[in-house]
Amino acid sequence: MGKEIKRYPEALTRAFTQAAEMIVAASGRVVCLTGAGVSVDSGIPAFRGSQGLWDRYDPLEYAEIDNFRRNPEKVWGMLAEMLIVVERAVPNQTHKTLAEFEEKGWLQAVITQNVDGLHQAAGARRVIEFHGTSRNLVCLECDWSWPRFSLVDSRMPPRCRRCNAILKPDVVFFGEQIPRPALLEATAAAEQARVMLVVGTSANVHPAAEMPVLTKKAGGRVIEINLEPTPLSGRVADLTILGPAAIGLSEIMQICERIAGHG
Ligand code: OAD
Repeated sequence: MGKEIKRYPEALTRAFTQAAEMIVAASGRVVCLTGAGVSVDSGIPAFRGSQGLWDRYDPLEYAEIDNFRRNPEKVWGMLAEMLIVVERAVPNQTHKTLAEFEEKGWLQAVITQNVDGLHQAAGARRVIEFHGTSRNLVCLECDWSWPRFSLVDSRMPPRCRRCNAILKPDVVFFGEQIPRPALLEATAAAEQARVMLVVGTSANVHPAAEMPVLTKKAGGRVIEINLEPTPLSGRVADLTILGPAAIGLSEIMQICERIAGHG
């Protein structure tokens, strides 16, 4: 029996082509905003949607800075579970394709809401960590900060070696400010981009969700790839492609290569 040939529905093929044309026409002035959806294939659960982390842990109870200060031992129960998964995770096809877009000169920067470092592990060079990083721990008492060692065998919760207070991962909790250098760099990149690719984010958390709006206001276009519609769909996004990011980005990459004559 012959092999089955599966074709994408025509509308989807057209959407991939449109996205590729916009990216190539932007001559490298493309910025990508990513969210938890890009790391799901690496085994890290997203925050919202089915099997989202916030289904099991109430974000107000676990990701709010005042609650962390009041009861860090309890919040560390959730953090330890999450960080051990992050520690073992490796980049997936989506991280690799985005790194390849940068390598080929089509992508200028990734603004990521993720704290897992997987874009960098895939080879991405310019990554703006909008919500901080889980690589470092900070002390809220004495401001000391240092790289996190493996949590797998560590005593929990980790304590500051200077003042013995309980440490916090250097990630942005609800009620905390976005790190100023990241906010400034992301804002400038978004305003200068001719195309903003928005991948794997529910676009519910601000100010990250405003980055595509900045691109749009400055005259750029917005392409969204996500499993489900978001508040950007049909409003801010010029093109919304619903489906897994890994497949969508690989298809778009192949078409970009054909258009640019590399493939
Ligand atoms: P969310 O969990 O809110 O959204 C992830 C989105 O990715 C959902 O809309 C999914 O449908 C989509 N998705 C899942 N798998 C996908 C796949 N394979 N391909 C494409 N899309 C996929 O995550 P974020 O938008 O990143 O903040 O959440 C934003 C912030 O909320 C996080 O950075 C975190 C959280 O509170 C802080 O920790 C400050």
